[in-house]
Amino acid sequence: QPHTAYPKDFKGRKLLITAGPTFEDLDPVRYLGNRSTGRMGIALAEAAAARGATVHLVLGPTSLTTDAAGVTVHNVRSAREMHAASVANWPKADAAILAAAVADYRPKKIAGQKIKKGEKPLKVELVRNPDIAAELGEDKKTNQRLVGFALETENGLENARRKLERKNLDFIVLNSPNDKGAAFGHTTNKIQLVDHNKVTPFELKPKAEVANDILDALVSIL
Ligand code: CTP
Ligand code: CA
Repeated sequence: QPHTAYPKDFKGRKLLITAGPTFEDLDPVRYLGNRSTGRMGIALAEAAAARGATVHLVLGPTSLTTDAAGVTVHNVRSAREMHAASVANWPKADAAILAAAVADYRPKKIAGQKIKKGEKPLKVELVRNPDIAAELGEDKKTNQRLVGFALETENGLENARRKLERKNLDFIVLNSPNDKGAAFGHTTNKIQLVDHNKVTPFELKPKAEVANDILDALVSIL
């Protein structure tokens, strides 16, 4: 039902949303990235703003963006930049939705010059990035709500529940790249919402409508 008008049920609410990939530089011209386009997170930001929220969207490098009224876009590149922008905007937020595909690792050193090829295999040492979700979860006040995403290729529910607990989330949006038309690179998504007591499955639908399903679940616990 694309023409359903939503009430301004997020009026007066401040939301932090992360979206898109992160790029972890290897040298001045190369990086490690991932296939996230940011489309789901941008859809969430636009839907929340349409429902009256003030949104801070921390957006990794992608060709997509938004100029929707009520959405302030913070463009970042690396996980550490996304971490800094997210931590800065968390204290005044009523809720955060972490839709970004954050790189778990980054190259230990960024080479100052373009790496030249040689005969030997190239070894790159990777170090852990900060876990933004886990940190926001640690600093979560009783009146704040935290929503994560999980993209799993196997043992989806079990992994999602583990992340829900470990990161102190209120619920987690599980999507599987195995489902046709879902997750990365698609305009549609098929999700399950997993909280501490139940699992709620949804049909495959456009990401704008998926966004409103997620926001319905969030507004009910704000
Ligand atoms: N997340 C985050 N910061 C990170 C890694 C993940 O904020 N450094 C967030 C994601 O935005 C998502 C949730 O944590 O909302 C789960 O991300 P996921 O990659 O599935 O979980 P990980 O804990 O990184 O576990 P793994 O990749 O090993 O499955
Ligand atoms: Ca990860």
